[in-house]
Amino acid sequence: MVAWGLAGAPLWAAAQSQAVQAPPLTCLRSFHHSDVSKQFRQRQVSGKAATFRRSIQCWASQNNGAELSSLTAPSNGARTCTYDVVSLGNLCVDVVLHLDKMPPLEEVKTSEYLRQLTVQTHSREFWEVGASCNFLIAAARMGLNTAAVANLGEDVYGQFLLDVLKEEGVARFQPLAPDAFDEALKETLLCFVLVDDCSAAHAFCSRYDFGPWPLLPGVERLPNEVHQVLRDARGLFVAGCSFDELPPSVIMEAVTSARSAGAAIFFDPGPRSWTFREPERRRALDELLESTDVVLMTEEEAAAITGTSDPEEAAHAILDRPGAVTQWCVVKLGSRGAVLCSKTPRATYRQHALMVDVADTVGCGDSFAAAVVLGYTRGHRIPPLLALANAIGAATAMGSGAGRNVATAEAVRELLQREAAKPGAAWVSWDEDSPPEHAQEGCEVAAEALCILQHTLAQRMHISSEPAGDTVLR
Ligand SMILES: Nc1ncnc2c1ncn2[C@@H]1O[C@H](COP(=O)(O)OP(=O)(O)OP(=O)(O)O)[C@@H](O)[C@H]1O
Ligand SMILES: [Mg+2]
Repeated sequence: MVAWGLAGAPLWAAAQSQAVQAPPLTCLRSFHHSDVSKQFRQRQVSGKAATFRRSIQCWASQNNGAELSSLTAPSNGARTCTYDVVSLGNLCVDVVLHLDKMPPLEEVKTSEYLRQLTVQTHSREFWEVGASCNFLIAAARMGLNTAAVANLGEDVYGQFLLDVLKEEGVARFQPLAPDAFDEALKETLLCFVLVDDCSAAHAFCSRYDFGPWPLLPGVERLPNEVHQVLRDARGLFVAGCSFDELPPSVIMEAVTSARSAGAAIFFDPGPRSWTFREPERRRALDELLESTDVVLMTEEEAAAITGTSDPEEAAHAILDRPGAVTQWCVVKLGSRGAVLCSKTPRATYRQHALMVDVADTVGCGDSFAAAVVLGYTRGHRIPPLLALANAIGAATAMGSGAGRNVATAEAVRELLQREAAKPGAAWVSWDEDSPPEHAQEGCEVAAEALCILQHTLAQRMHISSEPAGDTVLR
């Protein structure tokens, strides 16, 4: 028998409760963030880091499933799941380096430049979590129960990333490969973000650009624990960069597992979209699109994937593929907002971006995606979810950098309150067959978006504060 302290709270948070008795794994009887970091460091010294890492996985998997699955009640009558969304792969640590002057891009985008950056020691103050962490953090902050299936190295960067995700309330980390049988799996992927302090321009330099691909060699099948997590999710979020990390067959194994259990699949081809022009990747992309419910892309990404950067044309190219299951295609337009085209009913929704003081736009799209997942998996109306997504993107633009600097719920709430209070602002328009909706003003849509956010957060808080109950494990 295992007593649970904080029913429905993130696994890690629950583990901190005094009431929680850890399963019979001696090293984790009392699980606490700082204890874990300390134990991890000590074990690194004694060469037992890998064993300890496996213990973390075991702990998580032994506590998975039945205890939490009844707690996140679906609002649309769908199946009951522990996780609102699981992200696949693409966890990395950003090392943000401020330069007086940005070198020419031809120099930055070379493996020699990456090698030079990699051999240097970079102070912890320049580390931030990046890539799909932006999505996970934004989703967790908006009240979704999130999990990550990915690889983390047995190094200080991996520990940093894990600590940040825990602090941010991401409920679970499940390793893609339980044993780091290849040396490359023992290193956390880094992405150097170079920021020109004069112009605020930024450029990226990472192994995603230079390979050797797949960046996570030797991962050919997914372990059972990963399948369990995938089957216990309402949504699976796949970033295009995962194709740099894993063979397409592994990505499809994850997609098939999640989808056959009833999860919706979300795909954001992201900054490496142009690689899908290569014939082998194109085949892999086409196979993934066959199973994808929602596609999100920028105009540049749309051009790489569909051959046109016109938002509606690109969206329809995705939705109208023969036999396509894709229901929504979103094209993000930066400071011009976003367009969402839906298949059934066939409709186009447009929303202007919110007027905000922009620090930089890193992570806007990743955090925007959190609202799209929320809206799709919970069956919300499109106009308010688009308003919510735009507000999350705008709130992220107000902060500098991504990772822990993406939108907070408070910032999003303030923006939506502002919009709800001024008629005519942040308008949403749409073309479809239901005329009454045309009458709705932007301020009403913003108010509805605010309700969705408040409801999601309240539901999450309620779940987290339910009284402890004993749960008998099998
Ligand atoms: N300057 C801005 N002002 C207000 N909102 C913005 C701005 N830039 C982006 N956004 C919001 O964020 C959304 C996503 O931004 P963007 O189009 O830059 O995506 P992206 O390029 O995928 O971002 P990233 O890959 O850096 O996460 C936009 O659709 C918009 O709602
Ligand atoms: Mg993006």
